[in-house]
Formats: sequence, C-alpha cells, structure tokens
Amino acid sequence: MKVFINKRIPDIGMKILENSGIEVSIPNNEDLSHEEWVSYCKKADVILNVGNVSFDKTFFEECPNVKAIALYSVGFDHVDIKEATHRNVVVGNTPDVLSKATSDVAFLLMQSVARRASYNYQKVKEGNWGGFDPLHALGQELYGKTLGVFGLGRIGFEMAKKSLQAFDMDIIYHNRSRNEEAERILNAKYVSFDELIEQSDVLSIHANFIPEHKNLFNFSVFEKMKPNSIFINTARGGFHNQTDLYEALIGKKIWGAGLDVTNPEPILKDDPILGLSNVCIFPHIGSATIEARNGMAKLAAENIIAFSKGEKMPHCVNP
Ligand code: DGY
Repeated sequence: MKVFINKRIPDIGMKILENSGIEVSIPNNEDLSHEEWVSYCKKADVILNVGNVSFDKTFFEECPNVKAIALYSVGFDHVDIKEATHRNVVVGNTPDVLSKATSDVAFLLMQSVARRASYNYQKVKEGNWGGFDPLHALGQELYGKTLGVFGLGRIGFEMAKKSLQAFDMDIIYHNRSRNEEAERILNAKYVSFDELIEQSDVLSIHANFIPEHKNLFNFSVFEKMKPNSIFINTARGGFHNQTDLYEALIGKKIWGAGLDVTNPEPILKDDPILGLSNVCIFPHIGSATIEARNGMAKLAAENIIAFSKGEKMPHCVNP
C-alpha cells in the first residue's frame, strides 16, 4: 500500500507508519503545483493530507486509484464526502485531540479583544506608552456575561467550560441538536439562532462548516448583536462575511472581533480589517500546540494503519 503525505507530520505519526512497513512518499518541495499534486496522488492508494486542498469531484475523477484519505485535521469541509462515499473512498479525521488547544485560542481571542490587546501592544511598539488615564484604553470585563456558542460540540464545550470556570459566564448555545451533557454540566441553555445573536455578549463559532453556513454571519446578523458584543471565529472563515464584519466594526454595531480564521485565507495584506484596533487576528493556529499536533499525527497514522489492515478507521467521517 502506498501512502502519499503532502507535508511532514510530527515524528510520532511518521514512526507509526514507518514501523508498519507501509511505503510512504513525501515530496522534497512542500509547495506543490496542482500538476505535481495530482501526479503524486495518482500513484497513491492513501493520501495523508495536511492543509485544506479541495477533494472534490474533479479530484476523484483525476485520481481514481485513491482508496482512502487520512486528514490531518478535524474539519473535513474541504472534502466532498458524498462523492468520496459514492466512490468507496474512506475518509478519516483527527477529532478530540485538538479540542482543548483550539478552544484555548477562542478563549485567548475573547480576552484579547475584551482587553484591547492589539491596540495596547501596538501603542507600546510605537513608543506611545502614555500615562495613566482613567478614561483611556478601557476594555470590558467578562464576569457574569453571556457566552453564545454556535455549534456546541467538543470544541464548543471546552470553550464554554473555560468561560464558565474563569468568568462565571452564562452559556447559551445553538446547535443542530441539543447537547444534554452541556446543559447538565455547564447549565447551558438551548436558544434559537435569533436569540443567540441578540443575547450573546460574546458569540463564538465552533460548528462544522457546511455550504449552508457560508456568510451566515453577515451585516444583518451583526446589526442584531449587542453593541458591546465580541465576535469570535476559530472555526472556518467562510462562516463570516469579512466586508460586513468590517462595516459592523467601524459602524460600532459590535465591540470587536477575534479571528483565528479569515475569509479569504490567508487574509489579504490590504484587507482594511487589519487596520482596526478592535480586532485580534491569528493565522489559523488553533491546533498549533506540540500536544495537539502530536495527537493529530498519531490519529492520522492510526487511521491509515487500520485501513491497511482492512479495518474501519477509528475516526472515519463517511456516513
Ligand atoms: C482543523 O483541524 O480542522 C483545523 O482547523 C486545521 O485545519
């Protein structure tokens, strides 16, 4: 069985594959052109994919020999799962191991925006420390405020738990289905989408991205949010319309925004949102801890090993 890995993953995963005797190929140059990418994939039975390259109908037509895809991510919005399943291509992902790390980033962004971290750091860098001013650089406290979670799954649960423990925040959420564990343990309250956007002081997205979610958070939504509210997106940039977000921020419809994902990604250098002092933006580093990335490497390798033995992948996303 031949496995093509488009980017080296942490050693823990590489060793699992090497010790199993599976033939692994990794390109010397990781920035492959489309032609190079297809040529590698055509020769592989299994692809271990790092990044968000699209596995759409065209891909499956071009690379009919691919039998399995082991994603080095929990998100699988870049894979046409229906098409993969139709062609008997097994797809695996890496859930759980990154829930703490990713929710840590949401929590960090929430506090950074609330206390105006970007603005304050920028001032210091500019040599503009300023004196103590009772009316300047004021942030807001999160104690007892309401956290609204859009998509209360594993990552949303971790974000809600931290917010409850640290700031005694009230948790409301909107989901496809009720999360009874969160209702019991976190006293989370299920609300409609409109209630979520109208009642949240902090609104944090943690849902899987599906086409119906594209630009769900647009100007008409931001307009209904509280003027003191903070918008956090660590899930996928496609959830928000970034021009509308910019307009909402300069129009003071909301207080600020913390983004670990942007729309498009990477963010354009001249995106005006980068000039705002009430935003904090990271380059999609939610799972970027040693622990999470090792965990992802192990799960991706274990998915491949199971597939090579004719077993079900432990983390298979096909229905
Ligand atoms: C994930 O695992 O889905 C992260 O967002 C990296 O793509």
